Amino acid sequence: MAEKLRIDKLLAHMGRGTRSEIKKAVKQGKVTVDGKVVKDSGLIVDPANQEVAYEGERVSYRSVIYLMLNKPAGVVSATEDNRDRTVVDLLNPEDRLLAPFPVGRLDKDTVGLLLMTNDGALAHELLSPRKHVDKTYEALVLGKVGDSDVQAFAAGVTLDDGYVTMPAELVVIEVLEGGGDSDSLAAGAVTSLIRLTIREGKFHQVKRMFQAVGKKVVTLKRISMGPLRLDETLEEGAYRELTIEEVDGLKAHRGADREK
Ligand code: URA
Repeated sequence: MAEKLRIDKLLAHMGRGTRSEIKKAVKQGKVTVDGKVVKDSGLIVDPANQEVAYEGERVSYRSVIYLMLNKPAGVVSATEDNRDRTVVDLLNPEDRLLAPFPVGRLDKDTVGLLLMTNDGALAHELLSPRKHVDKTYEALVLGKVGDSDVQAFAAGVTLDDGYVTMPAELVVIEVLEGGGDSDSLAAGAVTSLIRLTIREGKFHQVKRMFQAVGKKVVTLKRISMGPLRLDETLEEGAYRELTIEEVDGLKAHRGADREK
């Protein structure tokens, strides 16, 4: 990161206190740069090439954050909400410092992959309708999903507002006789476990696509977005930082417009 900034701003960003607390700490000689005690809390530093320490402990600085959350049901994909817990509430305080926000929305009852970042440019490109980034979901659907649905989704279905969806890939993984393992279904109900890849992101799109073919989504989980796959070792509600390879993959993916 080739960014230079004031040392009090850097330390505040990295959670070492408010600007005035840091000013005090500087006066007390608690802050060093390359081993030398800092006298001026307005000192400009280059964190990529200088070693900043607070109370003898190295402070590593970064200005961007990329997190993969396995979103649980019951929280909303927003940074603030008057009624519900948000995905930001699930983050540790130190991970909130850089103000990551969710890239796109999953419904309150949808679980699975949610990218959170403060990289606005990347978020914008991943969400751009021109880019057609693939999103893959797994769902339990009430009823028997069959070939006619696969063909309808491949051709595009008409949603309740008249919008015709782009071609989507529907794969039926299994038809379950007897309600699957969902508690909310009547005993004996037929359900289908499916995987669906869509290339756009209309409001409630997956649920409305099934509604368009007379079926109802019971549970919905996102498993990938572009090249980013949900790390299945993350429990629902848990998150981790993206690896460098995952960040590079997303950045490379956003490059080209995907036609059709
Ligand atoms: N489609 C939906 O219907 N809901 C989601 O949360 C995501 C895609």
